[in-house]
Amino acid sequence: MTKLNNTYPSIWHLAERARKRIPFFAWEYLDSGTGMERLVERNRAALDAVRMMPRVLSGRFAPNMSVTLLGETYSVPFGIAPIGLSSLMWPEAELILAKAAQKNDIPYCLSMVANQTPERVTEFAPDRTWMQIYPPSKVEILHDLLARSKAAGIKTIVITVDVPASSTRERQLAAGLTVPPKTTAKTLWRMAKRPAWLRQTMAKGKPRFRTMESYFPEDQMNEAAKLIANIVDGRPDWDYLDIVRKAWDGNLIVKGVLSVEDAGKAITHGADAIVVSNHGGRQFDAAPASIKALPAIAEKVAKRVPVIFDSGIRGGLDIARAIALGADFCLLGRAFLYSVAALGDEGGDHAYEILRNDLANNMIQAGAKTLGDLTAL
Ligand code: FNR
Repeated sequence: MTKLNNTYPSIWHLAERARKRIPFFAWEYLDSGTGMERLVERNRAALDAVRMMPRVLSGRFAPNMSVTLLGETYSVPFGIAPIGLSSLMWPEAELILAKAAQKNDIPYCLSMVANQTPERVTEFAPDRTWMQIYPPSKVEILHDLLARSKAAGIKTIVITVDVPASSTRERQLAAGLTVPPKTTAKTLWRMAKRPAWLRQTMAKGKPRFRTMESYFPEDQMNEAAKLIANIVDGRPDWDYLDIVRKAWDGNLIVKGVLSVEDAGKAITHGADAIVVSNHGGRQFDAAPASIKALPAIAEKVAKRVPVIFDSGIRGGLDIARAIALGADFCLLGRAFLYSVAALGDEGGDHAYEILRNDLANNMIQAGAKTLGDLTAL
């Protein structure tokens, strides 16, 4: 890993490499936000603005970074967020990330609209897979997804509630992204310019929505995106959350909460943990930076349930900042996918290593021996 550490010492280096290694439409899909992308900028600026006071003469120590969350112990306070269509960025990215999660003792949250099934992913991460679900409008599909998850040995379901309807991703549209990718002259040219990606994609096949395809007819596969949008477009409400809670006796995490009131309500409706998230700035460009919403929610929740944070994390220091502001755990979406797009098989492990080392180093700089010692000014 030393060579990789020197060539790609940060998530930013990996993002730059990924941009040059995958087709333009795949890059735009991964990297973009919604609207003017002001929320993407706000997430970054607000994280940068979190200050921490270094404490000196703390002596030699190895920071303790392990955490127990919902009954499982993880090596570090972060995991891999659900990313739909992950195999567009790199074929079988889901399996690469699942292996890295199992090896490094972190959770990998599989998106229901990623390209591998919970059954397959749990072969690689039997103890570390979480399953993310967008609320299907047909409750039978919800029940089936929960039953499949349970049968695959998954103990934690993440229900994402911040997508009441799909948002406009202007950069994706302008880049000509369609799902599945259409072979127009322009996309062919863009793929031809990315030979490593193209070779891998030809070897493994175009990304398919393997988890969802059992819910739509085979001959309509080319309409996959539309069919999935119809399945998911349930405009769920609090009663829907009650249905999920009733149907699932494992851990239930509600992802995509920014308001203190909604956080309190999610707990009343049975959430075992919440994710403070604005979907990485991909849904509603007027929303607050996720890190700005965190402290009030953490205070309100005050140890009733764990608070997980995401949106904008690009290094171990950002994880330290979120923990200092009350998060118990963090998720990272783009950071892990940049790494897999840049490095293929080694991407999951390398992102983990960068983030863990950066968190440890910054804890030493701050004089924080434990995660609880991290405080913000
Ligand atoms: C996402 N996110 C997401 N969330 C979810 O619950 N289900 C999904 O299928 C997806 N798909 C998805 C695709 C892509 C390309 C991105 C970038 C994000 C949101 C994701 O889980 C997470 O909340 C954000 O990625 C966090 O922001 P960062 O870490 O990417 O800045």
